[in-house]
Amino acid sequence: MKFSLTVNGQSRSVDADPETPLLWILRDHLDLVGTKYGCGIGQCGACTVHIDGEAARACSLPLSTLGDKKVVTIEGLSTDASHPLQKSWCSLDVPQCGYCQAGQIMSAAALLAKNPHPTDTDIDESMAGNLCRCATYTRIRAGIHEAARLASDAKNSPKAQLQEAAK
Ligand code: FES
Ligand code: FES
Repeated sequence: MKFSLTVNGQSRSVDADPETPLLWILRDHLDLVGTKYGCGIGQCGACTVHIDGEAARACSLPLSTLGDKKVVTIEGLSTDASHPLQKSWCSLDVPQCGYCQAGQIMSAAALLAKNPHPTDTDIDESMAGNLCRCATYTRIRAGIHEAARLASDAKNSPKAQLQEAAK
């Protein structure tokens, strides 16, 4: 069955079973492999993307439920690695193996778009569903604080960049 999707601001069409999880549409049909498969049951956060600006687990979203909602993946976060989280992740060397990090960044981006200056508690609560086998949690928290600092001007804000990516 044919479906039209808006992914990273582009209209894409796919021919797939309506029950196919978005994760496999992204990875296998659209070659957007930055979004990772971890548990497949909505428990680890490796597959986190944004659906209409909200963090969501792509492994648990059937294609048929998306309609005209806007999907943004890690590839759509910025076109030139200029998102404050991408900058802070590099400057603080946040990842270890890296496997969970696209999902971590997408959850963090959704947090900063809503709450530009989160406290440690805000971060811990918001990021609790994103697991990291390498236990980079302390650096993730520092990376989010640093990104919040970098995003102090509106043009560079995560919210503005996400709005741009979702157009
Ligand atoms: S792969 Fe989707 S939450 Fe784990
Ligand atoms: S950096 Fe290895 S799983 Fe998170």
